[in-house]
Amino acid sequence: MNNTEKLDAIREYIYYIFSSDATGHDYYHMKRVARMTNLIAKQEGADQFIAEAAAWIHDVGDSKLFSNSDDELDKLNDFLQTINCTQSQLKQINMAAKDVSFSKGTTPATLEGKIVQDADRIDALGAIGVARTFAFGGSKGQLIWGNDNKENTSIQHFYDKLLKLKDLMNTSTARQIAEERHSFMKYYLDQFFHEW
Ligand code: ADP
Ligand code: NI
Repeated sequence: MNNTEKLDAIREYIYYIFSSDATGHDYYHMKRVARMTNLIAKQEGADQFIAEAAAWIHDVGDSKLFSNSDDELDKLNDFLQTINCTQSQLKQINMAAKDVSFSKGTTPATLEGKIVQDADRIDALGAIGVARTFAFGGSKGQLIWGNDNKENTSIQHFYDKLLKLKDLMNTSTARQIAEERHSFMKYYLDQFFHEW
């Protein structure tokens, strides 16, 4: 398989795993992150194949979403070998994907990983970010907001995490894109409290 065919196969694999996710980590999240990763990788001169492959798989085995993380990652790596990814590609893809998650508090070591992290964070911002936050919150039985108890509400998540993301971008390309989405979220929150 050439690299384009490998990416097609990876996309199908990811579709199979995430198509019915209702926590904001559905197939279309992976697709947007892959697309945004491509765009940033082009600007930043990163390896397009490694970056896009890592983007597609970045949420596989996430402990928020999977009870059997290690099994999922083993299955994924077996799959990547069946589509003839080389040992070097496997290593680089895993390197780029493993430290992306915000909750881990880590920054990936490679440029490709930093870009996937930026693309993943961009997808937590803006109108899409708002939708994903309430989807995630609802799926975990979390309240929207409350006058008495603000802890563990979806609105509180904007202040705990989302409004901080624009200053945590690794690349200048992502920082620019994040700026507009950040402003939209602030506007959204003003309107939310106006109506509340
Ligand atoms: P992470 O980097 O933490 O793994 P992901 O990209 O996997 O992030 O998913 C984060 C998404 O889930 C974001 O859109 C975020 O808004 C949502 N999310 C995570 N934790 C919460 C929470 N406590 N309340 C509402 N939304 C949340
Ligand atoms: Ni993600």
